[in-house]
Amino acid sequence: MTILTHRPRRMRKHSYTRELMRENHLLTSDLIFPIFIIKGENKRQNINSMPGIKRLSVDQLLIEVAELIELGIQAIALFPVVPPIKKSLDAKEAFNPDGLIQRAIYTVKQKYSNLAVITDVALDSFTTHGQDGLIDNNGYVLNDETNEVLVRQALSHAQAGTDIVAPSDMMDGRIGAIRKALEKNGFIHTNILAYSAKYASHYYDPFRDAIDSSANLGESNKKTYQMDPANSNEAIREVALDIDEGADIIMIKPGLPYLDIVYRIKQNFNIPIFAYHVSGEYAMLKAAVQNNWLKEEQVVLETLLAFKRAGADGILTYYAKQVAKWLM
Ligand code: PBG
Repeated sequence: MTILTHRPRRMRKHSYTRELMRENHLLTSDLIFPIFIIKGENKRQNINSMPGIKRLSVDQLLIEVAELIELGIQAIALFPVVPPIKKSLDAKEAFNPDGLIQRAIYTVKQKYSNLAVITDVALDSFTTHGQDGLIDNNGYVLNDETNEVLVRQALSHAQAGTDIVAPSDMMDGRIGAIRKALEKNGFIHTNILAYSAKYASHYYDPFRDAIDSSANLGESNKKTYQMDPANSNEAIREVALDIDEGADIIMIKPGLPYLDIVYRIKQNFNIPIFAYHVSGEYAMLKAAVQNNWLKEEQVVLETLLAFKRAGADGILTYYAKQVAKWLM
């Protein structure tokens, strides 16, 4: 007869004790749904590499939002699909007060003032070359010149009524520049969600299909500004700088392969953290599910719970709608 002092399995025998000691929970209020916006009316376009996700025209966005609110989702992140003729070297469409995203923000906020709208601040949708900033003759992305455009872009979003501007460009000093401009222009309640630890990842390809920028980007990459996947200490430094410059929330991206970064940042800083379960992560799960290799509901809930366990407060995920239904 064995006499064991400790039997951790005792607590796992019944579902009621398992639930009593459950440390983390995935809630619908943790979810943020990214949405791609196209021009025109009555349009819903499929995206090949992202089954179940559609590009929506602004009128369809309103219908979508009604559904999201019904499901209990309280936040969306908007990304524009910019027609080729609106793309340029100077990316000036990015701060057009009457641009696609500015109109989308205005239209949604007029009707649904209680929904949190998050908008992307970066130039990749607006440049002919698909880089997140302005380039010099060698194709190098210029930092300070880009920041001037990002500031104008962020102000145009604030003007249209966005709740949260989300610089995803990884230029140095842009959080400080945007914060200062928001303050100066009276937008003291506009939040900044800083993509502080954004990696030069190969998990973004379906997203680049969705916003139609992959052809523009061609064989080039974003390694001179997005972070090296090999680094983790560098993320701590980036986050410290962004907090110092006035960020309200920190984003880590991609998600699942980078949960160690989420964890480290949570341990090191006392600030809300969002993590982005990106397009490639979504595509992988969908592909496996379509082949009946994984059970969708179970594997997705487990995946997103892992984000919470690592320390994420909010999760951007293309699965938000499905998850909200499962959690109902
Ligand atoms: C643009 C941006 C990207 C994503 C969000 N904002 C792509 C990129 O940096 O090339 C990727 C999101 C996803 O893959 O779901 N700056």
